[in-house]
Amino acid sequence: MSARAWCRRARLWSTSVSISHSSQHSVSLNRYWAILLIGLSAPIAAADWQSVASVLQQRCVMCHSGDTAPLGLQLSDYGSLMQGSVNGPVIVAGDPDGSPLIQRIRGTAQPQMPLAGPPLANKDIELITEWVAAGAKGPDAADVPAVAAPTDPYADGVVRYDEVAGIFGRHCVLCHADGGKYLSPPEGLKLTDYNSILRGGERVVVLPGNAAGSEIIRRVKGLAKPRMPFNGPPWLTDDEIALLAAWIDGGALSAEGEPAPIPVGGRVRLRGRLTAANAIDGAEFVTNNATRTKDLPPIGGMAELRGYIDADGRIVAERLRSR
Ligand code: HEC
Ligand code: HEC
Repeated sequence: MSARAWCRRARLWSTSVSISHSSQHSVSLNRYWAILLIGLSAPIAAADWQSVASVLQQRCVMCHSGDTAPLGLQLSDYGSLMQGSVNGPVIVAGDPDGSPLIQRIRGTAQPQMPLAGPPLANKDIELITEWVAAGAKGPDAADVPAVAAPTDPYADGVVRYDEVAGIFGRHCVLCHADGGKYLSPPEGLKLTDYNSILRGGERVVVLPGNAAGSEIIRRVKGLAKPRMPFNGPPWLTDDEIALLAAWIDGGALSAEGEPAPIPVGGRVRLRGRLTAANAIDGAEFVTNNATRTKDLPPIGGMAELRGYIDADGRIVAERLRSR
């Protein structure tokens, strides 16, 4: 056991003891030992900032950090947490029930947080509640939490899913999820996790290796309407769009670095400007004998393509017409 972990356990232990001593009620000897034993055996975290910060790091910071954090709420350090969101403070020291953050993790205010993944474990909800009840004290000067240093997603030359997951979380999951803002995810499209994103909805929205042809990119740039996120502006920043495009052009790698399979046979629809005889907004497509065309506009005009992805990952036009 590290010295630090040992100190922490000892501190917990002595807290339990002093609580039982200072209690107004008489504490039986058995209870006294029970408390001591719990203190020794169970890894109960003290309700200090350090423990709270570690829960926030694991479950919240992927979305609640950076310039485009939802509602401006950054949870990456104590100062930002206490500053709150565009709506005001989310922590009311001493009043857990009146703290919007507690209401969100309990699910008494919707949408429940964290927005993606399972709710927090009860022990973590209790931990944060206890911390707020005890006055929401910040870190000791000597005990500043490790704030996740912003890492450069391009540093190793590849962009993996875990480096773009936060973009979907911050801007898309609110609606594109089961139990989201709508009865069902719009166009059947869930953007909650890697497999769902690759699967797409009624159509495929990520063409690995082809950002220009991917509906996700077309929507966040506003080339395809309505622009996403649907509740924007604000739209994604240029950096976020560039990162998403780099992820797709690089093969839409999983978090483990595996390239995504080609969605052979997946349906696609492109509505936009014909920028060449065989391209819509720069996204190339192929035609064949089976392609049906109707009032095809001149280059520069608005067109709609419906088709599918072939085994080589190309967009094959089945129907092409003016819009
Ligand atoms: C997958 C992304 C994501 C994760 C993870 C996430 N949030 Fe959120 N959070 C959001 C979004 C998006 C909103 C805005 C919802 C809305 O517009 O109604 C939000 C809103 C909130 C609000 C409301 C702020 C206000 O002003 O009303 C609180 C509080 C909050 N989150 C706390 C948390 C906490 C605490 C965690 C971790 C336990 C967490 N969130 C995890 C995306 C996320
Ligand atoms: C506030 C809710 C909301 C948010 C947030 C949102 N969307 Fe959407 N999305 C919709 C709705 C509604 C539609 C259907 C729009 C229509 O065509 O009428 C849609 C449609 C789409 C489509 C078209 C699917 C298809 O098959 O053509 C894509 C792609 C998409 N969204 C991507 C995104 C991305 C990426 C984000 C995050 C950057 C996002 N959306 C955020 C509500 C939302």
